[in-house]
Amino acid sequence: MAVGYRNNERGIPRALDGVGRPGSRARIPTPAVLCDLDLLSDNIRMMEDVAAAGGLGLRPHMKSHKSAFIARLQLEHGAIGLSCAKLAEAEVLVDRLAEDGFAGQVPVLLTSPIVGPAAAERAATLAARCELAVVVDHPVGVGELAAAVRGAGVEITVLCDVDVGLGRTGVLGPDEATSIAGLVAGSAGLRFGGVQGYAGHVQHVSGRGERLAAARAAADRLSVVVGALEAAGHEVPLRTGGGTGTSMLDIELGVLNELQPGSYVFMDREYRDALGGDPEGRFHQSLTIATTVVSANQAGFVTVDAGLKAMATDAGVPLVVGRKAGTGYHFFGDEHGLVTTGGPSPLERGEVIELVPPHCDPTVDRYDLLWLVRGDVVVGTAAIDARGCSQ
Ligand SMILES: Cc1ncc(COP(=O)(O)O)c(C=O)c1O
Repeated sequence: MAVGYRNNERGIPRALDGVGRPGSRARIPTPAVLCDLDLLSDNIRMMEDVAAAGGLGLRPHMKSHKSAFIARLQLEHGAIGLSCAKLAEAEVLVDRLAEDGFAGQVPVLLTSPIVGPAAAERAATLAARCELAVVVDHPVGVGELAAAVRGAGVEITVLCDVDVGLGRTGVLGPDEATSIAGLVAGSAGLRFGGVQGYAGHVQHVSGRGERLAAARAAADRLSVVVGALEAAGHEVPLRTGGGTGTSMLDIELGVLNELQPGSYVFMDREYRDALGGDPEGRFHQSLTIATTVVSANQAGFVTVDAGLKAMATDAGVPLVVGRKAGTGYHFFGDEHGLVTTGGPSPLERGEVIELVPPHCDPTVDRYDLLWLVRGDVVVGTAAIDARGCSQ
């Protein structure tokens, strides 16, 4: 698998003296996010196999890594397109991939409804550069997209976003879905593509039986909507949804025909806690935060340079990699963390340790680049191209 080197626009050095030699992993300026290429590749191949074995399309979610380098690996390994959360995320990744030779070919699904004429116009502009599908959960959204494509010479595929229990976005039932499909069918430049039912509330349910029951309830809600759309004469070619936690369960349930998982590329502490040894938990933790011990004067703990600013904090604390019992991380302010050492400190000032992030997506979004490692060796960097692109 190819390794990407890309200069960082903010001028961060793409390589340090000693990179590429044993021990270089511990020489990265910290805090930094590291991704083990072999584990990442294995995760990408495993999800490719899961989707292929189930006969489902795989459209991985970019919100987890925001990196054209990883998107490209996914496209080279079974992904039929990309899922993006926000317009800016899609715009940046489409452009970066075009630079890498995927020009005009990448099917992109925008998984969040967009609002207002300006956003619809941006979608129409983007549709000239990729094969674009957008979810909609309100009739006004259809009108905005129809107005934007008029005269732009592009076509946008519209999916009806269905609330399958998360309650975040999506129509509430079959009547609203049918009326949206009707509006799309009557709009020049728009094509009705099917439905999205993302069961975000189910992904971290622990216990496979409990997660399956919750996923079944969500699938049933989507199935009712699909049935109503078909009864009203609308074809429903695409039924997309799912995430890492339900990837295999969704196949078993048989309602979705496309998966859009994101976190499986990295996994994180929160997912590991929830999925444990379940088959959906088989993905490796390929992402770590490297942090340096900046003070070791106290008995029982040391201070490291990764604090609240170094990771998303919504899911609790990170895990300390490879350390004995008694070692634990606590937040210690904006810039620092406290790592207990479980007795006399085996950790010295200047030592670099690694943490498994509590929640991968919003952690990655805090960094400009990923340091790509193989074992103890840094082999390159990959830009987190769409970092901060949440508009
Ligand atoms: C709409 C949508 N689809 C897919 C995903 C991917 O889920 P996960 O990262 O749990 O695999 C997300 C994540 O939040 C999402 O919001």
